[in-house]
Amino acid sequence: CGIVAYVGHREACPVIIKGLKRLEYRGYDSAGIALMNGSLNVYKKKGKVADLEAALADVDTHGNIGIGHTRWATHGEPNDVNAHPHYSTSRNIAIIHNGIIENYASLKQLLIQKGHTFQSETDSEVFINLIEDIRVNNNCSLPEAVRLAMHEVVGAYAIVVLSKDTPNQLIAARKGSPLVVGIGKGEFFLASDATPIIEYTNEVVYLNDYELAVIHDGQLDIRTKEDVKKTPYVQTLEMALESIEKGGYEHFMLKEIFEQPKSILDSMRGRMIAENDHLMMAGVREFENKFQNADRIIIVACGTSWHAGLVAEYLFEDLARIPVEVEYASEFRYRNPIITEKDIVIAISQSGETADTLAALELAKSKGATIFGVCNVVGSSIARATDAGAYTHAGPEIGVASTKAFTAQVTVLTLIAMIIGKKRGTLETTKLRQLIAEMESIPSKVEKALQLNEQIIGISEVYKDATNFLYLGRGYNFPVALEGALKLKEISYIHAEGYPAAEMKHGPIALIDEQMPVVVIATKDSSYEKIVSNVQEVRARKGKVIAVVTEGDTTIPAMADHVIEIPETSEHLVPLLSVIPLQLLSYHIAVMRGCNVDQPRNLAKSVTVE
Ligand code: G6P
Repeated sequence: CGIVAYVGHREACPVIIKGLKRLEYRGYDSAGIALMNGSLNVYKKKGKVADLEAALADVDTHGNIGIGHTRWATHGEPNDVNAHPHYSTSRNIAIIHNGIIENYASLKQLLIQKGHTFQSETDSEVFINLIEDIRVNNNCSLPEAVRLAMHEVVGAYAIVVLSKDTPNQLIAARKGSPLVVGIGKGEFFLASDATPIIEYTNEVVYLNDYELAVIHDGQLDIRTKEDVKKTPYVQTLEMALESIEKGGYEHFMLKEIFEQPKSILDSMRGRMIAENDHLMMAGVREFENKFQNADRIIIVACGTSWHAGLVAEYLFEDLARIPVEVEYASEFRYRNPIITEKDIVIAISQSGETADTLAALELAKSKGATIFGVCNVVGSSIARATDAGAYTHAGPEIGVASTKAFTAQVTVLTLIAMIIGKKRGTLETTKLRQLIAEMESIPSKVEKALQLNEQIIGISEVYKDATNFLYLGRGYNFPVALEGALKLKEISYIHAEGYPAAEMKHGPIALIDEQMPVVVIATKDSSYEKIVSNVQEVRARKGKVIAVVTEGDTTIPAMADHVIEIPETSEHLVPLLSVIPLQLLSYHIAVMRGCNVDQPRNLAKSVTVE
């Protein structure tokens, strides 16, 4: 979900609506706003922010303070009632909330006994009634009531509270879900991330867990839930406004696919000097000895980041000879895993906010492992919870289906594997030199792969009405097959499965008939000969073969229905190229099917709930 709040000299409503649109990638089931226009009024609507905006057309929205929310439903289906903001029973205060209150059911019972009434099924409405209850019973100020309520609730939250009685005051609090305060000239912004803020100011303060921020009369006061006053740590953001706008592209996803030559370059820039085989990464240097002596590396992640983790498994084992386990964060954390102080846990996350990944790393930390982060969002929760890390410099990724973040993650993980391989002596100098030189050529090869766009539009036309797709790959291209299938599923709603090509004969082969498009990633590498046989197995069952091959290949083109040629590269780096046509294929098929590519149904960009 996304939060935006404003207080200052501007009209609050347009600032909040625009901010919600910028945050819409975080959730878009419903949206709402609370404004102080005469009294404290809440307007909310199921659907997109644009639906809320339309509903506000006839409302007098004047006023200089307000709070807004765009929702990804957890408790309660997406409808007008469950949308945020929520009023307290007296309707004197309103709240917007991200996260989950785990003990909401027992709190609700208690509050009902005390006479509170509830309109929605949400845990957020429980939170605001709890605040109201504490305020009345203790006869205290609203900030004090919020602070005390923070001691009662269990779970995760970022909240902003607005009250009719203090119409110039915003109160915010955080535990587990992100919240940023933007500081302008005589105005303040609050948001889930910096994107709604940067067009007004680049001075921001990230709230920490268990902190409370009170903005009143042009002052920002931050204190802990124990009531200890904190000096705000103001950071200057370097994010450019263009980076969060579509810049002429029809969708963010397409823009982000085409940004990959640059985002890959930015992720390796300054970390590699070809002349003297020099590799450097500040975060790795700090823990070089740990990496050198690690018994194993455990990678935790979700979604696309998990696929980048699988690529890293091949890289670390091959180049650095360290055993690697790649774990779904949500499984790992509940499994009583064996973790020792000699383990290094790498958490990979674009947003740096994924709740399961964060919890998995906290668990590993408590067992003494060293935690390393690979995140894209600077200052995010995961980045801050790690012992060390390396940022991917992909720039803001807005499209819900991850593209440039994936290739940036793979770039950074490749560099880490090379650094450690060099240090451990498992990666010999000639091979290292070749890899560095090859790495340098990747951005221009990605550029070349992007020229396949027109051809892929043609292939998309042929298969846009398919109901199933199979993606096959081996070795370094196996995770790419999974990623290709995930992309298609996410945005076109076509069922797709990614499989190791050789495993196909143990199940998915039963699905193959003349209706089944099979995307085979069969670049020239150590498993090439084997995958040729797999292509024949598909052909023999009349499956339609869409093959991604290395430029100049003649064997597979003779068997495939469609051939997509990508530039030749080292097999260690091939995922950075082979994923590009798959991203484009899913994009064009989804557009042709009339799907909302940037905001696919039921998904959210950053999943801050378990
Ligand atoms: C969500 C997003 C995916 C993403 C996954 C992990 O499911 O829709 O695109 O891969 O979360 O997110 P993270 O921010 O941790 O990489």
